[in-house]
Amino acid sequence: MAGGITIPVLVAAVANTGAIGSFGFAYSNAQKINEDLIAAKTLTKNPINANFFIFSPVTLPNEHTQNEALSALNRLPNSENISLRIPQPPFHLDLEEQLQPIWEHQPAMLTFHLGIPPQVVIQRAHSLDICVGITATNEKEALAIQKAGADFIVAQGIEAGGHRGHFDADDDSDEQHSTTELVTRLAAVSSLPIVAAGGIMDGEDIRNILNHGASAAQMGTAFLCCDEAGTSPTHKHFIMNEHDRETVYTKGFSGRWAQGINNQFIKLMEKEPVLPFPIQNMLTNPVRQFAIETNDGEYQSLWAGKSYKKARATPVRQLIQQLVDELKLADL
Ligand SMILES: Cc1cc2nc3c(=O)[nH]c(=O)nc-3n(C[C@H](O)[C@H](O)[C@H](O)COP(=O)(O)O)c2cc1C
Repeated sequence: MAGGITIPVLVAAVANTGAIGSFGFAYSNAQKINEDLIAAKTLTKNPINANFFIFSPVTLPNEHTQNEALSALNRLPNSENISLRIPQPPFHLDLEEQLQPIWEHQPAMLTFHLGIPPQVVIQRAHSLDICVGITATNEKEALAIQKAGADFIVAQGIEAGGHRGHFDADDDSDEQHSTTELVTRLAAVSSLPIVAAGGIMDGEDIRNILNHGASAAQMGTAFLCCDEAGTSPTHKHFIMNEHDRETVYTKGFSGRWAQGINNQFIKLMEKEPVLPFPIQNMLTNPVRQFAIETNDGEYQSLWAGKSYKKARATPVRQLIQQLVDELKLADL
């Protein structure tokens, strides 16, 4: 989970229980990735995962569209405190550079979201015995992942929090399968192990998804309120307390569909023009940062899955023990 949540203490705490702790490195530069991997190594010897986004090539739209997107943000009630500028390239970090510390520190797993990495990346990972997983949201993507030589597929259902992992950002015909539906479909067409992601919050959910053909469960939202998570205090507060809101998908924060707890920003941006991903993400960065500094949950991206009300605020070790106990109970 990129964006300051998967800090080394969280990743290591998860790994130390025997589960796989994951770093979300999408927005981290090579130096930060290097520091985080070194920090994690001092806290755990167990396998961990490093996750990256596959950014598609993107250019700024014409000036009129830029101004419209900027004006929409400048109309927000708290905008007088924030100075916004149209971002200039580069709009994202270079994957090859981001991966340099990976080749050096060699975490056990490498996963990719929003697309398939270049062949040389998969080959290099395999030459170092690093296992590669890639997110799919439908059968077509899963088959492309299998063809590319990945070791497993992360099946991301519509319940999942954060960015929707479909490859084509402009694709508004997203098939929107639930996690169980998707796992069933992918198990029918692919021989690769499937890691299910989306709405898995307790041991019973894990049992259910394993019964549908998944080999493992990937849980994001369930860990957001753990003591060790770098989640902002407001984000944690909303997950634990704001249970009347529900989650919604929005393009307002980043320019790509992502699911989070409904708030003022999402409502105000519903019909407003946005710049393409990840340019909109850079454009809204000062809005989100100001909201974090002022503990204002109405203007933060409160990414969370549909089942966020089942999240638990506990130390990681306790959460995993509860999941294990619940899974055993579900097996009886
Ligand atoms: C706050 C947050 C940030 C996320 N960031 C990433 C990310 O950087 N890379 C990624 O592959 N998935 C990301 N996801 C999606 C998760 O990998 C996973 O698909 C999802 O959390 C599973 O559904 P759940 O949230 O219902 O557990 C994120 C999810 C959340 C909630």
